[in-house]
Amino acid sequence: MQSAASTPPVYLDNAATTPLRPEVRAALEPFLSNETFGNPSSSHRFGRAARARLEDARRQLATALGVEPQTVYFTSGGTEADNLGVLGAALAAREAGRPFRVGVSAVEHKAVLDAARAVEAAGGEVVILPVDGVGRVDPDAAGEALERGLGTLSVMWVNNEVGTVQDVRTLATLAQDAGVPLHPGAARYYREAGLMP
Ligand SMILES: Cc1ncc(COP(=O)(O)O)c(C=O)c1O
Repeated sequence: MQSAASTPPVYLDNAATTPLRPEVRAALEPFLSNETFGNPSSSHRFGRAARARLEDARRQLATALGVEPQTVYFTSGGTEADNLGVLGAALAAREAGRPFRVGVSAVEHKAVLDAARAVEAAGGEVVILPVDGVGRVDPDAAGEALERGLGTLSVMWVNNEVGTVQDVRTLATLAQDAGVPLHPGAARYYREAGLMP
């Protein structure tokens, strides 16, 4: 009989994070091994080489997403992007005289909920949108919150624990009609959407 100790472990948390694909590892290798090393903001040849590779990556992502390269910003990870999408957008709304109020779904990642709490700590308001039994946001609840007035709406595209995919197209249409920016937390979406080359 095989003992538990000799049974190879099975990784079942792919909704949260997936192993690095071999082609990603290969693309990163020149940077990790210092073959192409430099600060992309430096004007010396090392910096210029790093900048060229960074802009290649920006163009590649922009093409996959169907957007202009200058609208793609790189962050150090999901939490930093969530801070921009929630707190940054809420502060911009306040600055523009729009409601200092953010809508977030009840099943958001802690990074989004923490950013929403930061809005509250800065004097703003948070509206929590309810979800159904599978964790999907009710578009009617989102519509009502948008009607009451939001500075920004943040709904994770794909849930990192149970994999629920939100109806982001409907939410985007509602938000666009209300003139409210939508932050579709897409940490898990790139793979789900089949955008990987
Ligand atoms: C939906 C979602 N948002 C935010 C994060 C936080 O990302 P990071 O750990 O890169 O800061 C994660 C991480 O798994 C995530 O799944």
